[in-house]
Amino acid sequence: MTLMAHAELPKDMVTKAYGRWAPVYDVVFGAVFDRGRQAAIEAAERIGGRILEVGVGTGISLPDYKRTNRLCGVDISEPMLRKAQERVTEFGLSNVEGLWVMDAEHLCFPDASFDVVVAQYVVTTVPNPEATLDEFARVLKPGGEIILVSRVGADAGLRRVLEHGFAPAARKLGWRTEFSFGRYLRWAGRTDGMVLTERRAMPPFGHFSLIRFTKAAEGVASNVECTPIQAAG
Ligand SMILES: C[S@@+](CC[C@H](N)C(=O)[O-])C[C@H]1O[C@@H](n2cnc3c(N)ncnc32)[C@H](O)[C@@H]1O
Repeated sequence: MTLMAHAELPKDMVTKAYGRWAPVYDVVFGAVFDRGRQAAIEAAERIGGRILEVGVGTGISLPDYKRTNRLCGVDISEPMLRKAQERVTEFGLSNVEGLWVMDAEHLCFPDASFDVVVAQYVVTTVPNPEATLDEFARVLKPGGEIILVSRVGADAGLRRVLEHGFAPAARKLGWRTEFSFGRYLRWAGRTDGMVLTERRAMPPFGHFSLIRFTKAAEGVASNVECTPIQAAG
């Protein structure tokens, strides 16, 4: 199997995978990713305001934001979003503006809608990560930040070999194991006004990173506008 084939991650495979994960996601991935989520929230709250969480999943982060922030959540998996809706109700999160079934690659929000776009453990699960980052940049206000927590693949050595070997199985579970930091650098390099402002290793094993991009100047793309579909409650 070629490296290119490893990189493919069809959307229907991901949607099915997270439909299966939804009932047990918090038990399996709650604690293990908590440090990364808290670091992302802390970074997002340094800017604050209107925050979009892409791939919000079961809404596990939502209660941890200060109520002074206005939160919007989108995810491609309706079963995951139903869990998020239950959480919003359980915690009385009146600062959550809405949860929408939406594809990260085609966000149905106008340009410059958000002060911060957060995506925790998401970019390596989407079919086209660069197009997805373009969308994040489009909906971000100038001066705002994209804040990611994401797996970064090894550039060499045994870990790289294992990551590529495990890639086909990982895709069935809904994510990529191999994803070089160079892809983020190349994306920032070719995207007007987006500057990489931080990369910080995150647990487990430092295989994940907190990655921040700042939008320094005027917008990057066209005026895409459509009506979001509210997740059934
Ligand atoms: C590993 S989970 C992360 C969930 C949550 N952010 C967390 O911190 O645990 C990845 C999430 O991204 C969502 N996702 C995957 N591809 C997506 C896409 N193209 N558009 C929107 N959400 C997507 C999945 O449905 C899933 O809920």
